[in-house]
Amino acid sequence: MNESIVLKRRSVRKFKSTPVPRELIDRLLEAGCAAPSACNRRTVDFYVITGEEKLKEISDCGRFTKMKAPLIILVVGNLSRALPLQLSDYWIHDAGAASENILIEATALGLGSCWCGVHPQKRMMQKISALLSLSDKQIPFSLIKIGYPDEFPEAHSGIDEKRVHFVE
Ligand SMILES: Cc1cc2nc3c(=O)[nH]c(=O)nc-3n(C[C@H](O)[C@H](O)[C@H](O)COP(=O)(O)O)c2cc1C
Repeated sequence: MNESIVLKRRSVRKFKSTPVPRELIDRLLEAGCAAPSACNRRTVDFYVITGEEKLKEISDCGRFTKMKAPLIILVVGNLSRALPLQLSDYWIHDAGAASENILIEATALGLGSCWCGVHPQKRMMQKISALLSLSDKQIPFSLIKIGYPDEFPEAHSGIDEKRVHFVE
C-alpha cells in the first residue's frame, strides 16, 4: 500500500535556495482556500512572501522562525468575516485547517514545509502586522516556511495508544 501523504508530512527546516515555481504556489493556495471553515465564513487570508528582504524581516520576527526558505505563506485570520459573539474564535480553527492543508499539499508536491506559530504571541503578531501593513481586523496566525527540502525526516507511523480512547 502507498504511504499516506499525511504520515509523510514532517517539519523541514533546511531548504534549497531554488525558488518555488508560481504554478506550485498556486496549488498551495488552492489547498489553503479549500480548507473547511466554520459556517463557511472563509475567514483566512493568505500572504505570499518571496522577496529576499521581506523573507528575512518576517523570519526575524520570531525566535524559532529564522530558518531560511525561499517562500513563506503567512496564514492570517480576517475578523471582518468572523462569526459573531462567542463563535468568533472559530477563525482560529479555520486558520489551523488552512495551515495544515498547505503543509499536506506541499508534501504531495515534493516540497518541504514547516508551520511556525505566530498567534497568540502578541509581540510577534505586532511586528508582522506592521511589516505587512495588516489592518486591525487581520490577525497573523501562522508563518509557513516552504521550499525544496534539503533534509528528509522519516515519515510518521503508528498510533500513540495512551492518547486514544475508544468509547462504546
Ligand atoms: C502551532 C505550531 C507552532 C509551531 N511553531 C514552530 C516554530 O516556531 N518553529 C519550528 O521550527 N517549528 C514549529 N512547529 C513545528 C513543530 O515543532 C513540529 O510540528 C513538531 O515538532 C512535530 O514534528 P513534525 O512536524 O515533523 O511531525 C510548530 C507547529 C505547530 C503546530
